[in-house]
Amino acid sequence: MEKGKIILEKSNRVARITISNPKKLNALSVDMIMRFRDALWDLNQDDDISLVVITGEGDRSFSVGADIESFETLNSVNGYRLMKLGYDVHSQIDRMEKVLIALVKGYCLAGGCEIALACDLLIASEDASFSLPEVSLGIIPGWGGTIRLPRIIPIRKAKELIFTGDRISATEAERIGLVNRVAPKEELEGILEELIQKLSKKAPLALSMAKHSINFGLWCSDINAALSVERGAVSVLFGSKDCQEGVAAFLEKREARFRGQ
Ligand code: COA
Repeated sequence: MEKGKIILEKSNRVARITISNPKKLNALSVDMIMRFRDALWDLNQDDDISLVVITGEGDRSFSVGADIESFETLNSVNGYRLMKLGYDVHSQIDRMEKVLIALVKGYCLAGGCEIALACDLLIASEDASFSLPEVSLGIIPGWGGTIRLPRIIPIRKAKELIFTGDRISATEAERIGLVNRVAPKEELEGILEELIQKLSKKAPLALSMAKHSINFGLWCSDINAALSVERGAVSVLFGSKDCQEGVAAFLEKREARFRGQ
């Protein structure tokens, strides 16, 4: 059977990672997770890229999570390694100083859903559906689902979804704040492009630091530490050329041209 792959493309400051294993609805093999991690590592070093889109091959599925076939031989030791690999992917998404957008069509389940949860923004087609069904396999979400979901949607709703494993529609996901925007499949790429254009006009350093400050504040238990990170970030940005340009553009009533400096 054809093996799955991770496709990395770059164009005009935007990178796109495609999870491709269509025969298995883009399930992720261990090899694919490693390649995913390596693609993120590559992007993290690439200063020419400021936006990253993550999507799945085809219209049927974003990803249905880990390849369950490999679970038959799992034990606590190689199971831990699999979870650690997932952690390496998700923590890179969290720490990456670029904006990540999940573009979701069809199934977005289990580890696939956890990847989408780790992204900064999520746009979905009307036929997308979301679930964390791990309890049905006798496990729990292990790539951050139990930690991230209650930080994105209300805790009772998060518990309900994790305890029941219920699959929810894109409309319901948008209603509870899991998804930024839902649109017909045919309009999705156009909506993505609009979002990319909008974000591309903003100062890249400011976007990076906004993400860093939001994520740090979310994970840090000490609000004063979080507020001082935010203060530090603004102080650094005051010294950037982008800030000079943004202020000058406002005063001269013109559009700013940011260069990420
Ligand atoms: N790992 C490996 N293979 C998977 C898979 C997974 N996570 N999810 C789906 N597949 C495979 C199916 O076995 C099937 O393979 P086959 O054609 O060789 O039989 C193929 O993908 C298509 O799936 P199918 O179940 O026939 O499609 P469907 O539209 O009827 O149902 C799902 C789709 C996603 C609801 C169903 O496949 C499912 O529940 N998958 C498991 C998701 C899951 O529990 N992931 C948890 C991982 S921890």
